[in-house]
Amino acid sequence: MTKATPVIAIDGPSGSGKGTIARRVAVALGWHLLDSGALYRLLALAATRRGIGLDDADALAELAANLDVSFAANDDGEELIWLDGKPVRGELRTEEAGRGASTVAALQPVREALLALQRGFRKPPGLVADGRDMGTHVFPDAGLKVYLTASAEERARRRHKQLKDKGIDVSLAALSRDIEDRDRRDSERSVAPLRPAEDARILDSSGQSIEAVTNRVLGWARELLAEKL
Ligand code: DC
Repeated sequence: MTKATPVIAIDGPSGSGKGTIARRVAVALGWHLLDSGALYRLLALAATRRGIGLDDADALAELAANLDVSFAANDDGEELIWLDGKPVRGELRTEEAGRGASTVAALQPVREALLALQRGFRKPPGLVADGRDMGTHVFPDAGLKVYLTASAEERARRRHKQLKDKGIDVSLAALSRDIEDRDRRDSERSVAPLRPAEDARILDSSGQSIEAVTNRVLGWARELLAEKL
């Protein structure tokens, strides 16, 4: 029997630092990276552009199954996300795109339609996948599952800084409300709600540096890789 390509699943709520940690772990190991939240954001964006309602499950599922998306560098070596053959930049990271993503993500047919696309990212030598249900649904056989969390205040502060650095101006209070709403919607939905997998390692990143959290995950990964992963 051939051994399946190893997967590290990193799940957690909005602003927990999953994206940053997943990227660093993937670079350190030389593995592929799946930012699954970007797929839900892209779907909401593509739907809005086509005038498809964010509650139209059938039309959204069809769009999801045929989503023309790729993750590739442009001629200058800049890593970009491409939708319908054109690069998507800041509009994907806005709070509006996040809200849209969280809305379409609550629809079962949409999640179903995105499964194959997500699993297609699993290629040798390995995959680091970040999202809400990587360990529970998309890659239940992942060798390492991390549930990354942080206090709501700290997550709002981090998101605020991230957006500010990108020149996007939004109030901290509005951001906190948005994060709480999104947490609620993501955790209370009936399909694939946000929750740690039973075999996930819980890592609270409050007050910890990015390096410390990355090293902790890499330490676990290397321990497990030495065994099997
Ligand atoms: O990680 P993010 O903020 O880019 O995700 C945006 C939204 O997409 C999030 O609020 C919930 C949804 N999502 C999901 O339901 N499942 C995933 N695996 C990733 C994201």
